[in-house]
Amino acid sequence: MNRIKVKAALSAKEPREDIQINGWVRTKRDGKGFAFVEINDGSCLSNIQAIVDEGLPGWDDMPRVGTGAAVSIDGELVESPGKGQKWEVRAKALRLIGEADQESYPLQKKRHSDEFLRSIAHLRPRTNKFGAMFRIRSEAAYAVHKFFRDRDFRYVHSPIITGSDCEGAGEMFRVTTHDPAQPGAQSYEKDFFGKEAALTVSGQLTAEIFATSLGDVYTFGPTFRAENSNTPRHAAEFWMIEPEMSFCDIHGNMDLGEQFLKYLVRHLREHCAEDMALFAQWVDKTLDATLDSIENDTFVRLPYTEAIEILLKNAKTKKGKDRFEFPVEWGIDLQTEHERFLTEQHFKKPVIVFDYPKDIKAFYMRMNDDGKTVAAMDVLVPRVGEIIGGSQREERLDVLQARIQEMGLPEEEYWWYMDLRRFGTVPHAGFGMGFERLLMMVTGVTNIRDVIPCPRTPRHLEF
Ligand code: 4AD
Ligand code: MG
Repeated sequence: MNRIKVKAALSAKEPREDIQINGWVRTKRDGKGFAFVEINDGSCLSNIQAIVDEGLPGWDDMPRVGTGAAVSIDGELVESPGKGQKWEVRAKALRLIGEADQESYPLQKKRHSDEFLRSIAHLRPRTNKFGAMFRIRSEAAYAVHKFFRDRDFRYVHSPIITGSDCEGAGEMFRVTTHDPAQPGAQSYEKDFFGKEAALTVSGQLTAEIFATSLGDVYTFGPTFRAENSNTPRHAAEFWMIEPEMSFCDIHGNMDLGEQFLKYLVRHLREHCAEDMALFAQWVDKTLDATLDSIENDTFVRLPYTEAIEILLKNAKTKKGKDRFEFPVEWGIDLQTEHERFLTEQHFKKPVIVFDYPKDIKAFYMRMNDDGKTVAAMDVLVPRVGEIIGGSQREERLDVLQARIQEMGLPEEEYWWYMDLRRFGTVPHAGFGMGFERLLMMVTGVTNIRDVIPCPRTPRHLEF
């Protein structure tokens, strides 16, 4: 018997004898003297149908073959006379591998709400929607690596436990240890073998080390933020991709961000067409138009100061009501409502806002000649808002030192970061893209918890 995946079976060129399909039953329909069993093995969205005739080996187990059960079927791959599928399996034998009790199996044939499925996150990848989501997620990770490899970037593994706070925003999870000989003993504040340590909020500073040695690099790994913002766009644990390029300024950085998003959308549309179609049909009817725009439209490049002017001009709706909850003035950090207005309503395409006020940005961003703004950039896309945040870095030692002092940061902790400016400093730039925000963008899913295999929330920590 040749074991094959459902995906391969459904795209076969010709009939095949002696195949074996292993998977989980989606539905079973009983006929007179036979049964139709729809099997999904996770290799693709579609199921394969098997016809099992009465009296075949394993037939006696049929009453226990229900939705969710694991089965193995030996048989022939034959052209299907029925509509809707080209191939089906004529079973020669069926083995019930793992039964699923029909009374208690939570995934019934009807559509379940996302909220309900979040409460059974260990079973939700067995549904069509979440199966599709996690196949897309897997393919997207591959596409990220392919994009950078094709451009000769090197992959750097930045540490997860760190002593430095990259964003300077004080939103870190502490790492503590405790003595197993004293269960329940209090952990101590400075507890990484006597030092303070935390989970990383960004791999950027590590990427800068390697950009100033290997040239063009990127990181791609888990990232942690202890921000207690219970929003549909923020997670405590998420994955971030951070390219960093030497001999590159903010404009080269914007170019890369735009090319990256276009590439990922194109790749996923080509390689995950069946799964993407599910989202376009059931989740977001405007998805294809949005993705067409990302692929084909040139992104708008808009200085922050002009963005504020546009928002101020549009602060009132046609009916004279306040359009925004959060008042607009030069100096504010753009809120999601502002970002979405710019990209969804005003320009109707992706927008890159750059040159933000220095006071709302991190210490490492390069100071512009105006002394008021820094060479920061955010890429905004419809519905998601900010998907990429990045900047040109401050490569001038004296300016960086002044900035660190001005912001009251512990200068001595950045001695190694200063070394990168002391020895062979170069203009360099990079950005971070939230991997989950990308998945939200390409599927139209609006809650970040529905694009993460095991979302980390206080209620979901068991697995
Ligand atoms: O804008 P952020 O905070 O930038 C940085 O961390 C820089 N060090 C990146 C760099 O220049 N190398 O985060 C970058 C992106 C955001 O645009 C967003 O897509 C995502 O990371 N992100 C989050 N995604 C999910 N949950 C959160 N809590 C996120 N915080 C940021
Ligand atoms: Mg940001």
